[in-house]
Amino acid sequence: MNKVIICAIETSCDETSVALVQDGNILLSQVTHSQIQSHQIYKGVMPELASRLHIQVISQVIEEALNRAQITWSEVNGIAFTIGPGLVGSLHVGAVAAKTLAWALNKPLMGVNHLAGHIHANAFVKEIRYPCLALVVSGGHTELIMMRGPLDFEVLSQTQDDAIGEAYDKVGRLLGLNYPAGPYIDELAKNGQVTYPVPTLRIEKDSFSYSGIKSHFNNLIHNANQKNEAINVEDMCATFQDIAVSQIIERLDYAIELHQPKHVIIAGGVSANSYLRAQATNLMKTYSNIDFSIPPITYCTDNAAMIGAAAYHYYLEKRFVSLNAKVNPGLKLT
Ligand code: KG4
Ligand code: ZN
Repeated sequence: MNKVIICAIETSCDETSVALVQDGNILLSQVTHSQIQSHQIYKGVMPELASRLHIQVISQVIEEALNRAQITWSEVNGIAFTIGPGLVGSLHVGAVAAKTLAWALNKPLMGVNHLAGHIHANAFVKEIRYPCLALVVSGGHTELIMMRGPLDFEVLSQTQDDAIGEAYDKVGRLLGLNYPAGPYIDELAKNGQVTYPVPTLRIEKDSFSYSGIKSHFNNLIHNANQKNEAINVEDMCATFQDIAVSQIIERLDYAIELHQPKHVIIAGGVSANSYLRAQATNLMKTYSNIDFSIPPITYCTDNAAMIGAAAYHYYLEKRFVSLNAKVNPGLKLT
């Protein structure tokens, strides 16, 4: 088969990212402009600012990505963009850019689900085998998904309330850490011990919950502040991380037993977490007949390469959208 090159655009949150991806697993180029520093003073992503910053840089990022790939538009087979979920204004900027390219160059247009992108980031590590059990852990999602093909998703379980990344960011904020707090907690926890009390959670084995953990740490920090007691930030991070990640590992183990997949993959921003990666790798040693992959750290958080990897399957299945396609901030996988 001839090679398939896709220009993918990801602008669902605070990264303006464009990648040229060949055959779903060869990255020709990627250029990402991160807005994190502009949002840090607000301790979270400011949606209006995010859209404005995407508009300012999107054309340059596209041009730079094409230059770095050392190809011309005539070699590109299709244009892909993140259609949802995400921030509506941010999604819109990527969608307009992609539609303009598709229209001007007369190429097929693909509206890719952001979570399908996170999952297919694993294609850069190894070919995905089906049935595949995918764990998506990010700032907005905590889900276990069964895949019977590249674009065949069944959500097996999800969080009843907050996402794990949201809990990391909230607890980090309470501890005075920068946004996004996940990477900081990850680092601090390496020098800490699990010394603080943890809540007893009553959560079914087929669902997740992070609001109770969030409130528990909120209370611990608030009480310590009121009593003027010093907080050992490293121990607090280690305690939080231990309970946050063990919930994931227990449910992953339960789902593997129940569904017997051929491949287990972990995806989403929180899959960059070193403790989660180590714990999951340990767990998977007990399942030596099942393939296991986690994307390299740079493909864990939002990036256009993963959208290009997923878009390859949209292209093969001819799942094209028209120039009227609307972004969907609450888009589901199924
Ligand atoms: O996938 P992502 O970039 O954006 C969403 O689609 O949500 O995920 C962002 C989330 C943030 O909550 C961030 O704190 C978390 O991923 N994160 C981490 C780490 N790196 C990013 N959480 C824990 N440990 C990390 N090393
Ligand atoms: Zn994401």
